[in-house]
Amino acid sequence: MKIQEWDSEFFGARIGRAEHEPIIGDERVDCAWLLIPATDYEAIHTEEEFGAEFMDFRVEYARETGPEVGIARPITDHDVDDLAAIARTAFRGLTRFYADRRLPDERCDDLYEGWFRENAADPNVEVLMVGDGGGPAGFVTVKMVPGPEASDVPASIVLIAVAEHARGRGLGENLTRAAVNLAHHAGFPRISVVTQGCNIPSQRAFQAAGFRIESSSVWLHNWYA
Ligand SMILES: CC(C)(COP(=O)(O)OP(=O)(O)OC[C@H]1O[C@@H](n2cnc3c(N)ncnc32)[C@H](O)[C@@H]1OP(=O)(O)O)[C@@H](O)C(=O)NCCC(=O)NCCS
Repeated sequence: MKIQEWDSEFFGARIGRAEHEPIIGDERVDCAWLLIPATDYEAIHTEEEFGAEFMDFRVEYARETGPEVGIARPITDHDVDDLAAIARTAFRGLTRFYADRRLPDERCDDLYEGWFRENAADPNVEVLMVGDGGGPAGFVTVKMVPGPEASDVPASIVLIAVAEHARGRGLGENLTRAAVNLAHHAGFPRISVVTQGCNIPSQRAFQAAGFRIESSSVWLHNWYA
């Protein structure tokens, strides 16, 4: 189990994370976050027997990059506060952090606002946005870690959100296409994105922009304390 220093500090509890290894209690942590392939029923049921609770069905999508038309522009410093406000509320009720009753919703809001702000300040992340006449309406953040070969690590969409009033008009698909285009021009042959199995709008936006599912897993949280 890997101790999650940042998350422990942020949520005020000792949190550990494990992948592909069965964890039956660990006195170093108050809570274990477990990511298990969705096909591994054996491991899922073992964790459930020891008190782990289902939080999220995680799905990963990917596609080859290529030239795409997506209407979006890079953000400026002036856009950050408005877009951070969209990030603060956009993920409510969708992700494993909100699903976990032990993590206060307000703190989850802080998480997504802070995550967006960190992305906006990260030299390895590009942020694109769209407006709808009334101001910033949505954004996508794209992580592109430079390496000797861009193909070493695919580009990835980290966060994407459209303000509630502007949804269902194609902005999400547009932002997704713009992210693909950006990664292509930066020399990345592939791009991936992770979302929640329950998140039909995001999956439809990614599918419409040519992404195909690559893997599925289950997030379980087990609070020992
Ligand atoms: C995901 C999100 C960015 C999509 O933005 P959007 O501008 O509404 O997306 P689009 O208008 O391009 O629609 C994308 C697809 O979702 C469908 N859709 C939109 N809202 C929907 C809803 N409430 N229920 C079901 N389908 C919906 C659209 O019909 C479209 O599918 P189609 O191409 O088959 O018609 C937006 O819903 C959002 O910000 N959600 C909250 C944050 C989030 O979930 N981010 C992704 C998590 S990783």
